[in-house]
Amino acid sequence: MHRVAIAGTGIFTPEEVISNAELVASYNEYAHRQNALNAAAIEAGEREPMPMSSEEFIVKASGVERRHVVNKYGIIDPGIMHPMLPERSDEELSIMAEISVKAADAAMRQAGVAAADIDAVICAASNHERPYPAIAIEVQQALGIKGFGFDMNVACSSATFGMQLAADMIRCGSTRAVLMVNPEITSGHQEWRDRDCHFIFGDVCTAVVMRRAEEAGEGGWEILSTRCLTEFSNNIRNNNGFLRRTREGHMADRRDMQFRQEGRKVFKQVVPIVVELMLGHLADEGFKPADLSRMWLHQANKNMNDMIGEKVLGRVPSRQEQPNVLQDYANTSSAGSVIAFSQFSEDLPKGALGVICSFGAGYSAGSVIVRRI
Ligand code: COA
Repeated sequence: MHRVAIAGTGIFTPEEVISNAELVASYNEYAHRQNALNAAAIEAGEREPMPMSSEEFIVKASGVERRHVVNKYGIIDPGIMHPMLPERSDEELSIMAEISVKAADAAMRQAGVAAADIDAVICAASNHERPYPAIAIEVQQALGIKGFGFDMNVACSSATFGMQLAADMIRCGSTRAVLMVNPEITSGHQEWRDRDCHFIFGDVCTAVVMRRAEEAGEGGWEILSTRCLTEFSNNIRNNNGFLRRTREGHMADRRDMQFRQEGRKVFKQVVPIVVELMLGHLADEGFKPADLSRMWLHQANKNMNDMIGEKVLGRVPSRQEQPNVLQDYANTSSAGSVIAFSQFSEDLPKGALGVICSFGAGYSAGSVIVRRI
């Protein structure tokens, strides 16, 4: 068995940003227009008026202040309310592959590896632009990597599950180094017309290079152990799929092909699952929570992270011990914990212990214990 390490990470952040103020103004204008359109039905009591959104609620309930997106104008135009991306020919790089290559370049630079050093590409994300050919194979070709590539989806836990898969492959020797990319164009499946969730997501792409620990060199992070968990729940769901056109009336509206959730239930049910996973995983590996220098948690909700951090450590964690990035990025699905890890790990010394932990739809949760080498 080989030891395995994270040798480099990279982030591609789209330039366009939507502040909460811009988001709320566009949603409220959309809601006003819908209410004017349906004034008679609302007046007759046949229909509820659409409620307004508020910046105060968003910050208090989630901690999100702004989000990056691949296309801003379509999302904030009250007559459109979704991103607008020009169609690309089959010969052009697809958008998920394009942002993956940008994040991968940064991760490969940090890891000090060339395409020839990598022999597998995993594209782990919560939605894929198309079913096939796999985005990972397109990325593989664009970067000139030999070997193989495949796509996988475990929603917000895609990256930690991808790390487990890559680590196992490297340990066993079927691959020597793996590039994992997490292109999250969450704005495509976000429902911007629903005030309960219109503030939640943002776009980004992260990349992680994993290789044998002895080849990763100083500054890398050895993956000591991984643990994945799933438990079925309908509380976060997206019904879009290839059988859509087979169901009468299902092409007319797009609400059921977007993200929806029972946020409060998710909050209540997922917190104990994650805390138990992290504490059990640490204990089984002979570590105490006090041994942790840092926790890089999934970035869905600040209140949720505060609660998980407190329950794991048995006290309120400092911002250094549990950094959040969701004020700037919102929920970027699988990429969130990787952004936190990438942006907040350089300062830690050799020997520092940490956990990368994600959780989300499925339910799914993944815990990756790492130590700086
Ligand atoms: N502006 C103003 N009010 C809003 C609003 C908005 N944008 N969205 C919802 N509200 C209202 C609700 O309608 C509700 O009103 P009511 O009390 O009159 O019914 C009230 O605010 C509270 O809503 P609720 O949905 O219970 O808020 P919450 O405190 O649970 O926060 C989430 C909502 C989504 C931020 C929170 O539940 C969450 O983050 N859950 C975890 C989600 C998660 O991790 N998902 C993983 C995704 S991958």
